[in-house]
Amino acid sequence: MLRMQALEKTFFPGTSDEVHALRGVNLDIPRGEWVVVLGGNGSGKSTLQNAIAGTFIADRGSIWVDGTDITNWPEHRRARLVGRVFQNPFSGTAPTMSIAENFALAAGRGRRRGFAPALARKFLPELRERVGQLRMGLHDRLDSPIGTLSGGQRQALTLLMATWREPSVLLLDEHTAALDPKSAEKVSALTADIVGRQRLTTLMVTHSMQQAVALGDRIIMMHRGQVLHDVRGPAKRRLRIEDLLARFEDARRRDLLDESAADLLAATYV
Ligand SMILES: Nc1ncnc2c1ncn2[C@@H]1O[C@H](COP(=O)(O)OP(=O)(O)O)[C@@H](O)[C@H]1O
Ligand SMILES: [Mg+2]
Repeated sequence: MLRMQALEKTFFPGTSDEVHALRGVNLDIPRGEWVVVLGGNGSGKSTLQNAIAGTFIADRGSIWVDGTDITNWPEHRRARLVGRVFQNPFSGTAPTMSIAENFALAAGRGRRRGFAPALARKFLPELRERVGQLRMGLHDRLDSPIGTLSGGQRQALTLLMATWREPSVLLLDEHTAALDPKSAEKVSALTADIVGRQRLTTLMVTHSMQQAVALGDRIIMMHRGQVLHDVRGPAKRRLRIEDLLARFEDARRRDLLDESAADLLAATYV
């Protein structure tokens, strides 16, 4: 379960660069729910994920994971609970280290004593098996540096790494956007497989309307740091791409209205 209450974040407060990136986000995500996050550029999607992962502490509001208030936890403490995959296949892994070394490092992360030797003995066979299940021809390449792999292979491995120990919350930020269509499709299918099998509480940001209708249990649309639409259950399953595009158009129209209202106000008070 992931609960956000009245979450707010402002960058550069009190300056001319001030941005209200989160303006009172309220979200209650039951355990095992897969939420697709849509929204235009700059609407606050990544900032929301950063707030959950602890990249910064929110200015106001609270964040709860499985009944625990983690609002003021530092990022490294949240790493045990939160798995993340970013858009860039080069982030999140050490390119000159092998697949096995990267996984060993990730498995040790967030543990007080690092990677215990007893664990290591069981680790390699399990790693070989699970990497094999990806069906990307990687099971016999565990000693290859991760930097020598394709973007799709790296995203698949990063996803496996992020979900290795069943995180309480999985955060995916346009994790297929930088891939060629075929690799994107593969990583997308793999995501459905892992999230479905482990029943992970997941927030997935995407620009793909295809993914939004095909995947997940619920869709939220962010707009100017708030949740503008929230659709789940049968209504989510009925949603088509055209419906989503119409909602985007509606958000754009609101923006234009906001701007002309601001212009009008400004003109009134000159
Ligand atoms: N670290 C940061 N420092 C300053 N401004 C930021 C930072 N991160 C995000 N912003 C700003 O906050 C707003 C929301 O950004 P973001 O959450 O990245 O949008 P999205 O992911 O929906 O495209 C944007 O105006 C962006 O420029
Ligand atoms: Mg973003």
